[in-house]
Amino acid sequence: MTIPPRYLDELRNRLALSDIIGKRVKVTRAGREYKACCPFHKEKTPSFTINDDKQFYHCFGCGAHGDVIGFVMQHDNLSFIDAVETLSALAGMQMPKLDPKAIEHAEKAKDLHALMEDATAYCEHILHNDKSEARVLEYLTGRGLTIETIRAFRIGYAPADRQALRKHLKQKGYDDAQMIEAGMVKKSAKGGEPYVFFRERVMFPVTDRRGRVVAFGGRILPDHLRPPDRGDYTPAKYMNSSETPVFDKGRMLYGEAAARQAARDGQSVIVTEGYMDVIACAQAGFKGAVAPMGTALTEDQILSLWSMIPDDEKVPVLCFDGDNAGRSAASRACERILPLLKPGQSVRFAFMPDGEDPDSLIRAGGKVAFQTVIDAALPLFDFIWASHMAGRRFDTPESRAGVTKALEKHIFEIADSNVQSHYRQLLRTRISEIFFPRKQNYGGRGAGGRGGRGKKPSMPSLKIRRPSGKNNLMPAKILMAAVINHPVIYPDIEEEFGRVEVTHEGLGRVKGALIEALDQDQGLDSAAVQAHLRDEGLEQEMSDILSESVYVHAVFASPKAEQALGEGETVSGKWIECLRGFQENVLKTEIKKGWKDAFERSNEDDEERLRTLVQLEAEDAQA
Ligand code: UTP
Ligand code: MN
Repeated sequence: MTIPPRYLDELRNRLALSDIIGKRVKVTRAGREYKACCPFHKEKTPSFTINDDKQFYHCFGCGAHGDVIGFVMQHDNLSFIDAVETLSALAGMQMPKLDPKAIEHAEKAKDLHALMEDATAYCEHILHNDKSEARVLEYLTGRGLTIETIRAFRIGYAPADRQALRKHLKQKGYDDAQMIEAGMVKKSAKGGEPYVFFRERVMFPVTDRRGRVVAFGGRILPDHLRPPDRGDYTPAKYMNSSETPVFDKGRMLYGEAAARQAARDGQSVIVTEGYMDVIACAQAGFKGAVAPMGTALTEDQILSLWSMIPDDEKVPVLCFDGDNAGRSAASRACERILPLLKPGQSVRFAFMPDGEDPDSLIRAGGKVAFQTVIDAALPLFDFIWASHMAGRRFDTPESRAGVTKALEKHIFEIADSNVQSHYRQLLRTRISEIFFPRKQNYGGRGAGGRGGRGKKPSMPSLKIRRPSGKNNLMPAKILMAAVINHPVIYPDIEEEFGRVEVTHEGLGRVKGALIEALDQDQGLDSAAVQAHLRDEGLEQEMSDILSESVYVHAVFASPKAEQALGEGETVSGKWIECLRGFQENVLKTEIKKGWKDAFERSNEDDEERLRTLVQLEAEDAQA
């Protein structure tokens, strides 16, 4: 007797393995896993480990292993059906009726998983070992992927031969019917031999939550590695497996198994568009990246994003292209998400710079560039607001009422009454700020980290404020104050200091004088450095720099640096950290501007709109 695998998956998902086992033996937490003394053999020190993510237990002493059902069967000495029944009751699930079809389905799924695993291993083998296909591996490493990454994602190559994989799978004991069911082989229309579906494709295995391969995405080779198209037929860049009993495209996300674990460890969940984006993100350290497979996000996928995040605040970041197409895709996603919002459960929208996707952005600008885009992501409300306000004028009561109504319509879509009422409130506030501005609403915002919600208040903030239009000199002043007060750091930061851009004339001269003095004699103390600056006629500039108004932003730069340094912190460490913060900030501003420009392009200038954007930016800088 068998039960549909979908039901069993659901059962395993609803129950925490450690809970079920914990009711029967004493378990203790050990990092991400749990440990216990193995109930299946005698032992005094625990070698029985439980992994909730993998939904699996394993005893390193006696080798016992299995899932929640296996555990209950063995521990409680129950039949499979009885164990499932027991667990169903705990999970509040109704056992399905057992019909012969379901039984058949379950058996098939087992075989399909095995078949897909064998196909994956085969394609990996070709990629790494087939000398005649070495160019494919070169292509991937040429795109910046390391061998470890290629291995971790189990990327492979499906050769051109129409029969190769079929022959291989046949040898492994699968028949055509199974290969066809798995979507790996297609029936020939003209009654000839069945043929392999993925050919001359870089193969990206798609796994389910438990890490089992259930489908593939196959990328065409780049133009220089493949023969010219015949006639006017251009093959699609990516082919995806068709739906099979184990592959439900609309419910799965590429990269989900690894991203789930990363989310557990506190990483952000980031939704990108494609296979390569997920892989490039993971390689750069953004291990919470996932992607749908060539379709827009479905409701199921959105729910599953939230389920990945263990915190109370569940706010995955959705990445979109910065162009018009990207913005309309974001609008569509927004419509799908509004009805699903719950307290603590939202999304943010990140827009890539023009022409970039996460993969190319990381290649061009590294982690920092991508992190900056992610940090600049707009909250859901701000996105809706901006997409209605941008490029339009609201100088008549009718137009104002019109946009208010349009915004309200979105808010009506929110099913959760609690969330809806907060959106209403925020809308009212924004409307009155924009249409009935009191003077201090403009420009006066962002006046420092004063209410920094929940942040440690004592530590000086290293972030510069939102640039106030004019050149902000504070970053340069902070960096120089630290050098003047603590010349000993100079050898550590020499190179970086040389590259710091200083646009202000006087400050530029201070920088030059500092470099000159310290290059000659690295043993100078602060007093000697100050004397040198005075000799150079830079007394005034120096007193601008060595001032309390600078130190409030960064105590580490002051003579009393020790007060600000935590354990293991050094002035030069702080200095570098600070510099990075400034650099990121510059980038952030650029990106925001790009996003702004994008909105502006859709219509001509008008004052009202600009004020809206400034307002938005101020809100954003505060958030
Ligand atoms: P892109 O065309 O943006 O490709 O498609 P990409 O991911 O940047 O890939 P590279 O960098 O050129 O190698 C984004 C995603 O849309 C789906 C795939 O999931 C792809 O990763 N797609 C794209 C398809 O399903 N079919 C296609 O023909 C093209
Ligand atoms: Mn790409």
